[in-house]
Amino acid sequence: MARPVTEWVKVTDDVSIIARETGEVWFHTASATVDEPDPFAAPMTGAGTTGSTIHLLDGAINLGFAKIEQRLARPEPTLAGYVVALIGAYHTSVDTPRNLRRAAKRFEELGRPEVAAYLEVRAREETGHDRLALKDLRALGVPGERLVVSFVPEGIKPLCKRFDDLCAQDYPIGCIGYSYCLERIAALKQESDIEKVQALCPDGADATRFLRSHSCLGSEVSHVEETIEFVASLPANDRISVVQETYRSALIMAEGYNHELLKSEAQMLDELQQALGEPLPSLAGLSSSRGSRLEAVPAA
Ligand SMILES: [Fe+2]
Ligand SMILES: [Fe+2]
Repeated sequence: MARPVTEWVKVTDDVSIIARETGEVWFHTASATVDEPDPFAAPMTGAGTTGSTIHLLDGAINLGFAKIEQRLARPEPTLAGYVVALIGAYHTSVDTPRNLRRAAKRFEELGRPEVAAYLEVRAREETGHDRLALKDLRALGVPGERLVVSFVPEGIKPLCKRFDDLCAQDYPIGCIGYSYCLERIAALKQESDIEKVQALCPDGADATRFLRSHSCLGSEVSHVEETIEFVASLPANDRISVVQETYRSALIMAEGYNHELLKSEAQMLDELQQALGEPLPSLAGLSSSRGSRLEAVPAA
């Protein structure tokens, strides 16, 4: 009987993620001795499987978030926080199609039409998602178009920069790891998370278009599945790079989200009003702590 495929990727100086196609996954700390050399010291070279690839990618996200688990902010959700999150969602979406097409063009030049074709499809799928966030802001009575021009939430800036940089690289395979990280986390959001946000919004306001689309109810689930299958089909060195970037993106995302979530409601309102140059009357009196903590702000 054939042995199950085992994949492994070194994500830090001394930690590797090991995953089997049968679903086992663990973190391995390098521990070579003269008698027992480390079996995972050399990079993997074999073919991937979807069963092992999903665990490598999700292991990378878990490891990235584990770094800040102890100090992860867990505030009650507020409408001001949701407005900031929507502005962040706009910024992480607005350049995605252009960036992905840039990376696709590079893979075309490199003689990798299959990677280019995958990225082109992703660019089409992501088109218009920035407008969902703007519509949600409008539904809340917030002048989103004006706000996004002058305001990028501080914790979101490093994420946007990371994606810009990855897509501009000579070999931009890492952009797949970044996208996976954002989409996988979005796909974890449940219907109950959306209901909690809806409960914060004014009665009758349809302000969760972006969130619905970037949750377990929307297209994010199929985007994640397609990416896992595609990554599993890549050569080993590409799979290694994608998993390593998924880990780095998770670190940046965890730090960035925490930075935003640690702000008080008054601080967030103040930032929004300063960016706009005038008060935000539609938020006055609506900011409350109804519901419980959101698992993550919208992104992707
Ligand atoms: Fe997506
Ligand atoms: Fe999206």
